[in-house]
Amino acid sequence: MNRRDRLIARARQGFRLAYGAEPTRFFAAPGRVNLIGEHVDYNDGYVLPCAIDREAIVALGPPDKDAPVPRFEAVALDMGDMASARDAFNLDGPILPGENNWQNHVRGVVQALGSAGYRVKPARIAIAGDVPIGAGLSSSAAFGVAVALACSEHSGLSLGPEKLAKVAQIAENDFVGCACGIMDQMASAASVADHALLLDCRTLQTMPIPIHDSLAVTVIDTGLRRDLTESAFNQRRAECEAVAKHFGVQALRDLDPDTLVAAEGDLDPVLYARARHVISEMERVEPVAVALATGDTAALAVLLAEAHTSLSEDFGVSLPAIDQLAGLVREALGDQGGVRLTGAGFGGCLVAVAKREANGAIDDAVARYNRTTSGLPASAETFKPIGGAAPIVLG
Ligand code: GLA
Repeated sequence: MNRRDRLIARARQGFRLAYGAEPTRFFAAPGRVNLIGEHVDYNDGYVLPCAIDREAIVALGPPDKDAPVPRFEAVALDMGDMASARDAFNLDGPILPGENNWQNHVRGVVQALGSAGYRVKPARIAIAGDVPIGAGLSSSAAFGVAVALACSEHSGLSLGPEKLAKVAQIAENDFVGCACGIMDQMASAASVADHALLLDCRTLQTMPIPIHDSLAVTVIDTGLRRDLTESAFNQRRAECEAVAKHFGVQALRDLDPDTLVAAEGDLDPVLYARARHVISEMERVEPVAVALATGDTAALAVLLAEAHTSLSEDFGVSLPAIDQLAGLVREALGDQGGVRLTGAGFGGCLVAVAKREANGAIDDAVARYNRTTSGLPASAETFKPIGGAAPIVLG
């Protein structure tokens, strides 16, 4: 049984246990790793994530036929015991946030669809996933997009990737309370297998960028987690918006780099540094896309090192241990590839884009780091870039 078949089996089994019935359809949406363009999506710039072969799977079946009003029921199989991981809400009125985060991804998606004028049909779902939670690989986006796709297909809406991504983002913004941008949901909804996804976060136009055959995308989980991700994330976003407001532009995408440099003395130094990260990061996206497509690992080494330093020093979302691990991997890779912090930061993962044969060097660097740390060990895993959200056709 492969990874996905095991997940499908778990979702099917969870559905049976929760509802005493058989699911009739399955839907999948992947997690993602971002290769470049960090903290750029909510500043309206270009980003370059790719979906990874870790997914959220929704098993869906008809509603309880004895329910007196139209109802939607959900069970999340990775969120604690069966009792705390269940939810049910009526579809004949406004849907309010629930007590648990995971419930709000479901409730938020159904409510967002309703507010956009789409009627979600009653159903029961069970959700299982293997995207690591809290690691910066977008388990939430996978969850939200998978639920949005299941609701859309079950209700005959046939929504495209952009709509699915937006609905999942609204759920996260309005119900979960994280002011995230659109990158993760678009990566989960619209990625193309074996490609990274160049995404214009203002227009939502996408262009799949082939990943050169000689390269591997390796995610190094630092083992470090921080609880304050959401509040610190929302604060970073507010800082960027404050700079945009200062210059009277819609978003930092519209700020000319020279204008920022010329105004250094007028801006709070922290705000200046935040904006410098965003502006310099936006300039790295296109060259990284070119290096990815052509297999230019020397360029990747330089660009990803710059990106890491910028996230750490200017954007303030790294930790000393992460910098140490990134430094060890960077040294081990030389010009065989690049490495940097990926995702929101404050813990989570590094991403390395390097020659396939450099995997041993990455493992050695991680082992060296693990000999020095008293915390949880770091671990490296190479992921396959897969396609975005889709119904599962069982063979
Ligand atoms: C999180 C958010 C994204 C994006 C990244 C940082 O993953 O959900 O929208 O802002 O952080 O690039």
